Amino acid sequence: MKCGIVIPAAGRGRRMGANVNKQFIPLDGKPILIHTLEKFSRLPWVDEIVIVSHPDEITIMEQLVQQYGIQRVKAIVPGGKERQDSIYNGLTFLETEYVMVHDGARPFVKQTHLEQLWQTVQKIGAVALGVPVKDTIKIVDQDGFIQSTPDRKSLWAIQTPQAFRLSILRMAYEEAKKDRFLGTDDSSLVERLGMKVMVVEGDYHNIKITTPEDLILAESILKHWSEEV
Ligand code: CTP
Ligand code: MG
Repeated sequence: MKCGIVIPAAGRGRRMGANVNKQFIPLDGKPILIHTLEKFSRLPWVDEIVIVSHPDEITIMEQLVQQYGIQRVKAIVPGGKERQDSIYNGLTFLETEYVMVHDGARPFVKQTHLEQLWQTVQKIGAVALGVPVKDTIKIVDQDGFIQSTPDRKSLWAIQTPQAFRLSILRMAYEEAKKDRFLGTDDSSLVERLGMKVMVVEGDYHNIKITTPEDLILAESILKHWSEEV
């Protein structure tokens, strides 16, 4: 069996402050979420796509998937309070050997990086896309004082997709639930079990659309880099 994709899209887009959920905002006339889904639905090794939606938006998502002819959508399922709850639910619908989790709000992931992740996960079992950080990162205490400056050479900003053997990620999600551990990404749930996760170097286009200024950046990425993304 090949690869299943879980697309968490059940957030509320609060930081965007728009009157529709951010993933329905059009970019070049097409909703952000559709740009994202199109990156996966054309890949020969993708067998199943599960979209995790806010319960109130399942019907809209179904309509959009049909309208834009997105292939291989196995299910559109309700999400939960946190991103982690949404993905936990999405994972139960897959029957593939591998899984990639990718934010609905990241429409610019490149095909070459998806291929690299797919090759790597089949060898290693756990891999995330990331980029070296550009800024100097400081550890700052509660009182606002700098505690330390980690060496930038070893600091990476981690993105999605993150890809895993499905059995590994399911186990990691079960353990996190049991321990009431809430992580900010999928990899951290696997890391805490002592398993190794590799990083594939991606690029700075693969932004998560979060706040209004990201929309300006997104329009610009589409305009200047449309052949690549
Ligand atoms: N997500 C989800 N379920 C949640 C929360 C988030 O599926 N309970 C999804 C979002 O839809 C998004 C991705 O996880 O595609 C990354 O989350 P984020 O960028 O934080 O999106 P939102 O939670 O929608 O935005 P905000 O935090 O500003 O409300
Ligand atoms: Mg959020």
